Amino acid sequence: MDEKLQKRIANLGYCSRRKAEELIKNGKVKVNGKVVDKIGTRVTLEDKINVEGKNLIEKPKLYYLLNKPRKVITSISDNLGRTTVIDLINCKERIYPIGRLDYDTTGILLLTNDGDFANLLMHPKNNIEKTYLAKLNKIFSMDDYFNLKKGIIINGKKVNISKIKIRKKDKEKNTSFVEITIHEGRNHIVKNIFKEMGYDVLKLKREKYGFLTLGNLKSGEYRKLKKYEIERFYRK
Ligand code: URA
Repeated sequence: MDEKLQKRIANLGYCSRRKAEELIKNGKVKVNGKVVDKIGTRVTLEDKINVEGKNLIEKPKLYYLLNKPRKVITSISDNLGRTTVIDLINCKERIYPIGRLDYDTTGILLLTNDGDFANLLMHPKNNIEKTYLAKLNKIFSMDDYFNLKKGIIINGKKVNISKIKIRKKDKEKNTSFVEITIHEGRNHIVKNIFKEMGYDVLKLKREKYGFLTLGNLKSGEYRKLKKYEIERFYRK
């Protein structure tokens, strides 16, 4: 099996694909001892790759499931000094989040150093369902419930709703808790869905990612994915 050199460098955990393209263009990459400065050159697993004088070796693949707390940014680093999801995981390898949760959103977030796995999960054709619990700033009406079931257009594109369930209506506090399951991965999508219907999302938690749930993980806790869990995503 061969793959593009920049992808291979990223998969080996050296840097992002974009950064790898830059390094290739700048003549910083050697394949089997020879400088290769053409983006898109294909390499195999047997090819020896050297970047900026460092020989790259295959690292073990890592897969984590984190219960992301509020006030943690889904990013590898943050120039405002905020805690990132990477800071919460005790891991020396370069891992990164698969997709993103907003700063104030809690719940399931997957992280890995396996680019192919990340692409598999992010690709729209794989249609992975995500379930969110949203606390809304008023009572969610039955009219809106039936309307939302039919789907909703957000920024010109339809969002299909796989499931919607009103979990709780608190008449005293004038809030409601609505569970919503979608395939979409667009940024702020759940907040935008409810905003379009005239509601503010006061709290948002991702409770399910495909077949994965939070189980007993408390806020800020994480665990490694099991081999059969990783394989199950490939089998889908
Ligand atoms: N939708 C949102 O609005 N925010 C998230 O963090 C995830 C999905």
